[in-house]
Amino acid sequence: MTTNIAFIGFGGVGQALAEIIRDRKNSLLSSYGLDAKVVAVADVMKGSIYNPEGLDIDELLKAVREKGTVEAYEGAAQASTGLSSIETITNSNADVIVEVTFTDVKTGEPAITHCRTAFEHGKSVVTTNKGPVALAYRELAALAEQNDAFFGFEGTVMSGTPALRMPVETLAGNQITEIRGILNGTTNYILTEMEKGQSYDESLEKAQKLGYAEADPTSDVEGYDARYKAAILSNYIMNTPISHTEVECEGISGITLEQVQAALTEGKRWKLMARIRNENGQVKASVKPECIESSDPLSGVTGATNAIVYECDLSGTILLTGAGAGLKETGFSLLIDLIHYQKEKKLAKI
Ligand code: HSE
Repeated sequence: MTTNIAFIGFGGVGQALAEIIRDRKNSLLSSYGLDAKVVAVADVMKGSIYNPEGLDIDELLKAVREKGTVEAYEGAAQASTGLSSIETITNSNADVIVEVTFTDVKTGEPAITHCRTAFEHGKSVVTTNKGPVALAYRELAALAEQNDAFFGFEGTVMSGTPALRMPVETLAGNQITEIRGILNGTTNYILTEMEKGQSYDESLEKAQKLGYAEADPTSDVEGYDARYKAAILSNYIMNTPISHTEVECEGISGITLEQVQAALTEGKRWKLMARIRNENGQVKASVKPECIESSDPLSGVTGATNAIVYECDLSGTILLTGAGAGLKETGFSLLIDLIHYQKEKKLAKI
C-alpha cells in the first residue's frame, strides 16, 4: 500500500530525502514494502503544492532549484497551490508529515503545532526538528499513541547516526547509567582547527561556510544546541523528562588558542562534552568544555564528527561515532524513520 507523504518545509534536508526516495524507489519497495509517494509540499518561502495523485520528484526539485518556488511545478495546473502548512497537514491525503521547517528552538514553534495538528488528525510525523522533542516530547508522544500515529525523530541527535534508536532497541535490557558525547559538530570542528593553530574566529567562519553551524551560531558555540540534544537523550533514552533549562550549560567561546595548544602538548584535548547521568533515578545533565586524556575513546573524534558513549550495566561501554550533520545524512535519518513507520504499519499498529 502506498504511503502518502507531505513535506512541511522543503529546504536542503527535505530535498535530500526526496532525492533518496526517488533514487531508491525500487529497493525501498522490494526490501521494506515502502512505496512512498510525495503528495504535497508547503514551505513558507517556497510556496505550496498539493496533488492527491502524487507529485513528480524531479519536477518538484527542478521548480525549487530553478525558480525558487514549488508553485512553478510543471503540473501545477492539475494541482492545488497556496495551501498553508496547517491546511496541508489537515486537508491533504498525506499519511506521514515530514516536518523539516526552520524552528525556533526556544519555543519549538511552529514545529510543535505542526506535530500536534498532525497527530490530532491521525497522521504520523517524522522530523529532524529538535524543538518538539526537546520541549514537548511527553505530550507529543502521548498524542501520537492516542491517535495510533507514528512519531519518528532519529535525526534530532547526530543526524543519520542512530544515537536514539540504537540504544533503545539494540541495547534494550541494559540499564544505561551514563551517556556522554560530542554532540555538536561545529564546536568540535572549531576546537580541532584551533589545535592546528587557527584562531577561534577563523575556525567559526570556516564552520559556517561548510554548513555545520546553525543559522545563529551562538546556539552552537554557547552549547545550546548540545543542551537540547542532552534533553532529548534524557527524555527518550533515560525515560526522564528534563527541561533544557535544567541542563547546566557552558560553551567554548571562553576557550583560548593557548589553552588548546597547551592541552595538546600534554597529550590532552578540549572537547565540548555533553553528560547525562542517572544518579539513583535522578537525571543530571550538563554541557561544558572538558580537557580529556588521549586514552579517552572520545579523544580521537575530530573535526565535525560526533560521538556518543553509553555506559551499560550488561553490555559495558558502547561507543557510537559518525556524522552529526549533513544533508544526505540527515535525509537518511528521515528515511530510517519512514522505514520504521512502514514496519509498524505492517504490524497494523498504525
Ligand atoms: N549545528 C549542528 C552541529 C547541526 O554543528 O552539530 C546538527 O544539529
